[in-house]
Amino acid sequence: MFVLPETSLAAHHTLGIDVSAKRIVVAESVEDVQMLWQTPPDSQSPKLVLGKGSNVLFTNDSDVTIVLNRIPGIEHRETETAHYLHVGAGEDWPNFVAWAVDKGIGGLENLALIPGCVGSSPIQNIGAYGVELKDVVDYVDALNLDEGTVERLNTDDCQFGYRDSIFKHRFRHSHIIVAVGFRLSKVWTPVLNYGPLQTLEPATVTPREIFDLVCKVRQEKLPDPAVIGNAGSFFKNPVLPSRDVEALLVTHPEAPHYVVSERETKLAAGWLIDQCGLKGFRIGGAQVHPKQALVLTNVGGATAADIVALARHVVNSVKAKFGVVLEHEVRFYQGTEEVTLSEVDND
Ligand code: FAD
Ligand code: EPU
Repeated sequence: MFVLPETSLAAHHTLGIDVSAKRIVVAESVEDVQMLWQTPPDSQSPKLVLGKGSNVLFTNDSDVTIVLNRIPGIEHRETETAHYLHVGAGEDWPNFVAWAVDKGIGGLENLALIPGCVGSSPIQNIGAYGVELKDVVDYVDALNLDEGTVERLNTDDCQFGYRDSIFKHRFRHSHIIVAVGFRLSKVWTPVLNYGPLQTLEPATVTPREIFDLVCKVRQEKLPDPAVIGNAGSFFKNPVLPSRDVEALLVTHPEAPHYVVSERETKLAAGWLIDQCGLKGFRIGGAQVHPKQALVLTNVGGATAADIVALARHVVNSVKAKFGVVLEHEVRFYQGTEEVTLSEVDND
């Protein structure tokens, strides 16, 4: 465990906004995390665990101690039928996926290039190109902060949903993920149903080919946080009663939509925002990405208030035009307190 010299969070979250914490500590083992949460004086100070900060907005400076989870390690064993991977929560997700593809292990390739740590992947059940974390995960090891013990949760325990899990609800304050286990079958089935992946040949395609195409598509559509600050999709795609979507399709038959269940249909938030003419719209240093309206960016010197004002403008515009209320996927923090867009009071 060690303390970083800086207190600015600019380099520790992908929106790159210059807000400060009380201090930034790097935890490299389960014992480090236990010590920080259970041994005075650290146990008494407000703390927030972070991976790569690619799904967070800090709304203002605070006196919180940020704990960067950097617990390392990839353990690999295999049976005749499957690969089993036990991965430290602090491993980098994109590197982990690339490592698996290099080893010829299939199953993770659709989830290539999603920024963040392995330990954050179950929290919102990361998903892209037809695969979600829940499809590949075997178990999640989480430190119960009340008991001081590591608990192993199976996939049912995790209550995975669309951008959702128990770690955003009941376990939000009580558990810290320290490792994730994956079971990847040796009978590999490519997932090619999403848009551009349909061009690949199902009979001969390899995990490497899917990996390469997913990386290419992502690099074309999404801004690289190392160049333009962003947190990926700022809002979730709204899941609505199917009858509401059918009503919208009467006037906008071209609206992209995906049937979720008998009663529910998901709309594309990026399309809704785009229809409001907001691509490229800017408030201060915050801009709706000109190539993908679901991404809000820091084009230089954005403050948290700029991002919040832009997010509000987007929500209000979509509500006025379509009657749909967008929910943000990005997690907003005022100190250690998680808040919603309507609760933020920094402007
Ligand atoms: P952070 O942002 O550091 O943390 C996120 C939340 O998890 C915070 O509430 C934090 O307190 C909590 N947390 C972090 N680590 C732990 C832990 N060990 N235990 C308990 N709580 C913890 N997401 C997708 O699902 N699909 C995509 O395709 C996708 N594309 C993206 C593209 C870009 C360019 C960017 C910037 C983001 C994208 N995202 C996507 C969002 C983001 O990559 C994921 O949410 C990712 O899992 C966040 O990982 P992180 O380590 O950066 O988490
Ligand atoms: N669209 C527009 N205009 C836009 C953006 C999108 O018309 O400005 C349309 C597209 O043409 C397409 C539809 O909306 O018909 C959906 O767009 P896209 O395929 O780009 O996906 P998305 O819904 O914007 C979701 C995830 C992404 C994930 C991709 C690929 C959410 C909130 N977002 O984006 O995840 O990578 O699908 O699977 O579910 C993230 O969560 O941070 C993220 C990037």
